[in-house]
Amino acid sequence: MICKTQDDINGMLLAGKLTAEALKYAESLIKPNISTLELDKLIEKYIIDRGAKPSFLHYEGYPASICASVNSYVVHGIPSKDVILKEGDIISIDVGVIINGYNGDAARTFPVGKISPDKERLIRVTKECFFEGIKNLAVGKKLGELSFAIQNHAESNGYSVVRELVGHGIGHNMHEAPEVPNYGLKTSGVRVKEGMCLAVEPMINMGERYVYVAEDGWGIITRDGKPSAHYENTVIVTSNGVLITTLQNEDFCI
Ligand code: MF3
Ligand code: CO
Repeated sequence: MICKTQDDINGMLLAGKLTAEALKYAESLIKPNISTLELDKLIEKYIIDRGAKPSFLHYEGYPASICASVNSYVVHGIPSKDVILKEGDIISIDVGVIINGYNGDAARTFPVGKISPDKERLIRVTKECFFEGIKNLAVGKKLGELSFAIQNHAESNGYSVVRELVGHGIGHNMHEAPEVPNYGLKTSGVRVKEGMCLAVEPMINMGERYVYVAEDGWGIITRDGKPSAHYENTVIVTSNGVLITTLQNEDFCI
């Protein structure tokens, strides 16, 4: 959506705040021996108890409230009692909430206990990709400037960018136009408008960029079996800079 009023901005900020809080809560739960289904149930309750709705549940038939993607899973891992976290894993948690008709959508990759330095670096660079991207996001620029910056940061660190999935517009619906690719030419994409709300979500692979779909029809997995990380925030482009709705404890503006 394009935020037209202060009420729209406030609506997006509240949805974003709850999304960020749900992710903070998720982080506090992550430890060896918990299953991804237990995480799903606890986070679902957390969202509902705050008067919001988990937007993923039943979305196009998706059966859970979070996506929980471990190691070589890029995104859309369906929570399961059989997926038990162990020391050294990385897990990407993606959460969406809807409240008062506004959406928040965000993801983080978390370490389970102590992880290898190469996984730590993957998580750090994926987060940096997001921030490099939004440094190049501004009213009047082409969206491709963000896409190019993300791809450039990932590839110059020896990683690859997943191309089959992209970020998206967001607002009254979780998925709206435009698409927000994490790769591409600076001259590509739409021209960024004031009030545009976007979910920017680099998905970065340690190895090759190629992925396949799991047998459940949802999970996206790296073809080479190497780890992947995800970092997503919902942002609003204003004439004074980019507001990040899903970062907590700071009215974050770049
Ligand atoms: N956060 C995901 C996205 O950005 C949505 C998860 S797919 C769902 O596209 F089906 F689980 F909702
Ligand atoms: Co998203």
